[in-house]
Amino acid sequence: NLSLSVRELEYSTPQSCKDLKQRFNINQDGLYYLSSPTGVVYQTYCDMTTAGGGWTLVASVHENNLYGKCTTGDRWSSQQGGSPNVPDGDGSWSNTVTFGNAEAATSDDFKNPGYYDITAENVAVWHVPNNERVGRWKLTSFLRYHTESKFLRSYGGNLYNLFKQFPVKYNAGSCPANHGPSVPVVYDVGDASFNHKLFGPHVRGETEPGFITFRAINHEKAAMAICLGVKPKGCNTEHSCIGGGGHFPEASPRQCGDFASFDWDGYGTNAGWSASKQVTEAAVLIFYR
Ligand code: G3P
Ligand code: CA
Ligand code: CA
Ligand code: CA
Repeated sequence: NLSLSVRELEYSTPQSCKDLKQRFNINQDGLYYLSSPTGVVYQTYCDMTTAGGGWTLVASVHENNLYGKCTTGDRWSSQQGGSPNVPDGDGSWSNTVTFGNAEAATSDDFKNPGYYDITAENVAVWHVPNNERVGRWKLTSFLRYHTESKFLRSYGGNLYNLFKQFPVKYNAGSCPANHGPSVPVVYDVGDASFNHKLFGPHVRGETEPGFITFRAINHEKAAMAICLGVKPKGCNTEHSCIGGGGHFPEASPRQCGDFASFDWDGYGTNAGWSASKQVTEAAVLIFYR
């Protein structure tokens, strides 16, 4: 009898890239089909080689228009403007809405069921230039880092649960008392010094590279989801942290959007509080293992 029940089929389908590597002995980077525990089948990218491999792409944060402030495409912050009446914006960090697809993860936002269903220990981040084809991501990524401390074990096993504990929401706390965890990273491409220089001198003056930080809060109590390879020492976190709640009071809505205020002192200038063009025009790919 060759027929399989749905349950048996789910059981045999890998649930993460780590599972695919360990249980199915697959060791090549690329796109694969995974299944969520509830039976949703989806395609995503697996990094099967970095630091032992088994990394599952669960999300990408792509800024399609830095001039658009909480407008269309700002799915990780708000597509509904910057009103304080919608303090958590689109709520994507802590809901089960999915969007995009793996193949387009550097050309649009991507979020798959793995983001909320996989139980993981560590996170990896890749900075890949916008609009790169899947086969070139590894080659063209200019900065890659990962955690090794298994910190997710203390926060419910994934970012969905971490952000339930640390809501990405305006007025959820204040700086610096209520920042979420800052976790040390190991660099796979680039280093801490290169990472730091992707941000302008004022930003470097109030951040320390070599960490990934979750749920940062700025002077005005706006919340951001992830600080890119840095730990804030000050409270102008809107220049190095991405994603966010729906309301950024300072010069509203100038700081509202997926890449927050990377353009405060001009687009791609890398001067003052502005980020470099390189990091501004690259998608942030988020992996679990
Ligand atoms: O985040 C920077 C802002 O709070 C201050 O900017 O231009 O007044 O120095 P500026
Ligand atoms: Ca935008
Ligand atoms: Ca976006
Ligand atoms: Ca500020």
